[in-house]
Amino acid sequence: MVSDTTGCIDDGRWISAGGAHRPGFGIVAQVLSLAMLVSLIALVSTAVGATHSLSREAPVQTPNIFAPTSTPAFAIRDLSWFVLGICAVIFFVVGGLLAYSVMRFRRRPGEDSGEPPQVYGSNQIELAWTVVPVLIVVILFLATARYIFGIEGLQPTPNALQVTVIGHQWWWEIRYPDLGIVTANELHVPVNDKEEGTPTFLTLQSADVIHSFWVPQLAGKMDVVPNKTNQVWIDPRTPGLYVGQCAEFCGVQHAGMLLRVIVHPKDEFAAWVGAQKGLAIDDLAVRGGRELFQSTACINCHTVRGTPANGIFGPDLTHLMSRSTLGAGVASNTPENLRDWINNPDALKPGALMPAMQLSRADLDQLVAYLLTLR
Ligand code: CUA
Repeated sequence: MVSDTTGCIDDGRWISAGGAHRPGFGIVAQVLSLAMLVSLIALVSTAVGATHSLSREAPVQTPNIFAPTSTPAFAIRDLSWFVLGICAVIFFVVGGLLAYSVMRFRRRPGEDSGEPPQVYGSNQIELAWTVVPVLIVVILFLATARYIFGIEGLQPTPNALQVTVIGHQWWWEIRYPDLGIVTANELHVPVNDKEEGTPTFLTLQSADVIHSFWVPQLAGKMDVVPNKTNQVWIDPRTPGLYVGQCAEFCGVQHAGMLLRVIVHPKDEFAAWVGAQKGLAIDDLAVRGGRELFQSTACINCHTVRGTPANGIFGPDLTHLMSRSTLGAGVASNTPENLRDWINNPDALKPGALMPAMQLSRADLDQLVAYLLTLR
């Protein structure tokens, strides 16, 4: 029936438009191979996460759920292989039987066009195609539930680092309540010490809409919901840079809400903490820019610790130049990009909530010179 698109149903009987063009096996085979191709592409694109490419020459990195470095991500990798394995078996059994039937039972020239024998009410067959899928679903459910309960609800250990991550349209605020550090878009954590156990526990909150925290190599996705606190923990085993991004549509710049996690060896992390704890550098050479910053609307949204600027709507700029990207990862943090960003954020990140400040060229130069000292 599938193979004959020129027929039609009339009075409940299948009537072939005999003699007319018969697409037959050719089309079915094409449809089948197309379906297989689409499934394979879907499989591969689920396996490999989104690609990070910054609009202005910053390193490109592709997060990959099959390259985990933290316990929750290892669990997800193992479970993914398990589910993919079961699905692959189903795919090849169903696809193979279908291909076999299409080949073996296709209509051949000179054959009569009557119906094949009709089979009704076979208890064995119906039991088989009911019980087997139910068993498969139960197995998948139990395996998933086991991993979820293994990861969620874990209490922070005494040596754990506590970090609060707050989703904003469209950037990440990162606070270390015990260390007195506030930064943005780049989460620095220590590598997990096997003996001491130094994982990082993240408390997720939102300042506006629903976001989703996702760093595929470290942990699974976790929604960041207004008026609700969610938890994620990571225990990275290898130092390095791990990229992530918001994984819940949150407005026009959802795709421009990138996140970088830098996992440091113990000493390196202590050095980073020491540098971030300090107040902003007060460089006399850029006094003009500093006064300009403090006399414009900049300070309504941004904090520079050690100065009167204490806005909290936008990222903390106390150590702006210690970060490698601008606009939550849309551009590298270079002097030219910083200048373009202040002049017109929309040019780099259309829809960004930071306004263009309409500064004169001279004022812009002064302001950039000041911000460049905030190391
Ligand atoms: Cu935040 Cu999508």
